[in-house]
Amino acid sequence: MNSFIHLTIPARAEFVDIARLTLFGIANKAGFSYEEIEDMKVAVTEACTNVVLHAYSNAQPGIIELSFEIEDKGISIRIKDEGSSFNYEPADTKSVTLHNKELSDITAGGLGLFMMHALMDKVEVFSERGTEVILTKLIGRKEEMA
Ligand SMILES: Nc1ncnc2c1ncn2[C@@H]1O[C@H](COP(=O)(O)OP(=O)(O)O)[C@@H](O)[C@H]1O
Ligand SMILES: [Mg+2]
Repeated sequence: MNSFIHLTIPARAEFVDIARLTLFGIANKAGFSYEEIEDMKVAVTEACTNVVLHAYSNAQPGIIELSFEIEDKGISIRIKDEGSSFNYEPADTKSVTLHNKELSDITAGGLGLFMMHALMDKVEVFSERGTEVILTKLIGRKEEMA
């Protein structure tokens, strides 16, 4: 049976570590290795940092809603905001390779979504009213280096 844990934090940089600490507790309980948990921490931090930096204006501060779903095969982490939406093109992110690129070209496109794809098994982005990112990781599935 799947288990759900919900956490709502202010969309401010100083609260992102609460999301990381919660993730650690949940992923540890779900049976992930420390290496896998470190990867997930980076991906979740990138998603939360995007909300802090891009979703809300200074005049209208907002919240980050996190939902953790523990499944038999792994966990899904949903990071949701009600800020401004953006045009997400997954094909661009998936096809990105760091080979033969200048550092300035890489950072211009944004590294956060690229890293989420590299560190997680599945990344879904819905950006209609606000943004919803769903990160999924399966237990014990070592990624081969491409
Ligand atoms: N939660 C969000 N709300 C609004 N825009 C977002 C959000 N997440 C990502 N974006 C948009 O997607 C772009 C790419 O994100 P990312 O790959 O993390 O790069 P970076 O944050 O370095 O710009 C951001 O620049 C921003 O325009
Ligand atoms: Mg980012």
